[in-house]
Amino acid sequence: MSDVGAILDLAQRLAREAGAIQRAGYEHAHEIATKSAAVDLVTEVDHACEAHLLAALGKLRPDDAILAEEGGGRGDAGAEWRWVIDPLDGTVNYAHGYPCFCVSIGVEQRGLRAVGVVYDPLRDELFYATRGGGAFRNGRPIRVSREAELGRGLLATGFAYDVHTSADDNLAAFAAFVKSARAVRRDGSAALDLCYVACGRFDGYWERKLKAWDVCAGALILEEAGGRASDFAGGPLPADGRELLASNGALHDTMLAVLARTG
Ligand code: IPD
Ligand code: CA
Ligand code: CA
Repeated sequence: MSDVGAILDLAQRLAREAGAIQRAGYEHAHEIATKSAAVDLVTEVDHACEAHLLAALGKLRPDDAILAEEGGGRGDAGAEWRWVIDPLDGTVNYAHGYPCFCVSIGVEQRGLRAVGVVYDPLRDELFYATRGGGAFRNGRPIRVSREAELGRGLLATGFAYDVHTSADDNLAAFAAFVKSARAVRRDGSAALDLCYVACGRFDGYWERKLKAWDVCAGALILEEAGGRASDFAGGPLPADGRELLASNGALHDTMLAVLARTG
């Protein structure tokens, strides 16, 4: 098996294992702590998922670098492979028992997204892609929608944890898209939002101030499903997630124009 094939297999297995931890803890009382802001939460399940993933990678892939949201990663600038992990994407949903969250595992090869796996444990949906190998959900190829009319588009967005205090709050763009698209959802899991564009449930998704672990896996899945991911000027998607416009491609320029108009 190629390196990429073996890494995909491992990422799928680990995503299912972390998903099982999430499922087991779902709707139980949680130990909730805050991070950067009162609305930025972390639970014991975020930590348990990350600890599980890191322990497995420590044993099976000791030479790879890891960037993981809750801080357990390890750096090695010279490593060929880097795992970019969100152990639980959708923590606010999880803490409230709202059934929309996942585990997101991206793997870069020398800085290029190579493998992406996103697992939704409640729906048992495993999204995955390898660079050049296409995108899949539970073994079946997925494709973005063909919708080219913003007025018929179902969009998604999200708001950063500094929304209470920052003027750069996404509200002008939100208002403009609410007035021009069919509808806009705010489901609270960036990785699933990306996968939903990839499989045609959403036609477009934008957000600012995301992090590398929110976008690494989902962006590859989207691109391999025929979609487009960029910054708000139409340039390459920043790997750190600070600006993300994801679309089916057909709506990309129209959405870019709205983002340009609303700053
Ligand atoms: C958050 C979710 C949410 C997005 C936030 C992210 P977390 O990730 O993806 O949808 O709006 O910006 O930080 O904290 O639940 O892993
Ligand atoms: Ca996240
Ligand atoms: Ca997270």
